[in-house]
Amino acid sequence: MSKQRIYLSPPHMGSDELSRVQEAFATNWIAPLGPHVDAFEHEFAAQISECEAKDGSIQAAALSSGTAALHLALRWLALKPGDEVIVSSLTFIASVNPVLYEGATPVFVDSETRSWNMDPALLAEAISDGIARGRKPRAVILVHLYGQSADLDPISALCERHGIPLIEDAAEALGAVYYSRRPVYDDPTGDAANAQRREVAPGTVGLCGVYSFNGNKIITTSGGGMLVSRDMSLVAKARFWATQSRDPASHYEHSEMGFNYRMSNVLAGIGRGQLRVLRERIAARRNNFAFYQHALGDLPGIVFMPEAEYGRSTRWLSCLTIDPANSGTDREQVRLALAGENIESRPVWKPMHQQPVFAGLRCYGGAVAQRLFRDGICLPSGSSLTQSDLERVTRVIRRCFGRR
Ligand SMILES: Cc1ncc(COP(=O)(O)O)c(C=O)c1O
Repeated sequence: MSKQRIYLSPPHMGSDELSRVQEAFATNWIAPLGPHVDAFEHEFAAQISECEAKDGSIQAAALSSGTAALHLALRWLALKPGDEVIVSSLTFIASVNPVLYEGATPVFVDSETRSWNMDPALLAEAISDGIARGRKPRAVILVHLYGQSADLDPISALCERHGIPLIEDAAEALGAVYYSRRPVYDDPTGDAANAQRREVAPGTVGLCGVYSFNGNKIITTSGGGMLVSRDMSLVAKARFWATQSRDPASHYEHSEMGFNYRMSNVLAGIGRGQLRVLRERIAARRNNFAFYQHALGDLPGIVFMPEAEYGRSTRWLSCLTIDPANSGTDREQVRLALAGENIESRPVWKPMHQQPVFAGLRCYGGAVAQRLFRDGICLPSGSSLTQSDLERVTRVIRRCFGRR
């Protein structure tokens, strides 16, 4: 295959990362602790609270992965076997595995079509049903998919009303914005509809939020994650557990089980550099999406992932569905045609309720995620794609539709 490969979402370094890695080498801070880790946590927390008051109330813990961050978030809740945890069905399995690590049982909730994220009405049904069965959910893991926030106002209100902790899996949605109309403090008039619109970052609304810096994410440290919360005791405990639960003593003293989940100081240096270019990366990914919309929008049966009116997506991945009944082709034919031209694309996530490993588990709804999986495709979305890369991708897709 002679043509240069176009990847789905490759890493894109800025100009600052290498010097920070060199700094780690020069100072010999080659450890899962160090000044870059402290600074990355601080700078990350400041950045995600940017749209709100920078009051320093959000704390962050840099960890070895987003999965580790989710695991520690669930551990904080001290789950017991048989406890149920609600999770979005349309997601990557890393959103769910930590529920199993803690011995609890996942319960899945389908997506809504306007955002592809968790349907608040189905969540309400899942909670009521759980309560009626004598199994009130112990937590809700809300996924913000493909760069777009879920509808946080109704979902956070629902969780608060029932006293259920909300864990936000924002692994794919760093830099997204949600326009919240919920008052920051309890509104004495109870008139939430009149509350002023505030821009909030997905991941900062619930009990805690989780981000990933895996190699395919909008910014990357090759591998890594961040746990954020306004609850300082939660973040402090996560740091403690992540360093093998080492008690304060000159020798090695441990009164609890722990994990080796901290982020390396070298990788945190990369993260600090990447954070500086986050805005540019979002702009580039939104441009990719706009290009695809313009170049493919006339094709029959194609529907782009909607941008819900309640927020702004980063368009981490450019996704669309191809209706086989109206297009004369289907998602798999398009994916294979792209692969034949050395272009990487991916089906939309296979829903968790359809995964063999979760067979027999409860799911509320399911048809929306199933259709999105059947018809949905993620196109090359990297922030370093060139105009000619984008043209190459759209030419192949147009050919599948018999168009030039
Ligand atoms: C929705 C979602 N949740 C969690 C994760 C886990 O993150 P990590 O790969 O850093 O463990 C990812 C990505 O990998 C993800 O896409």
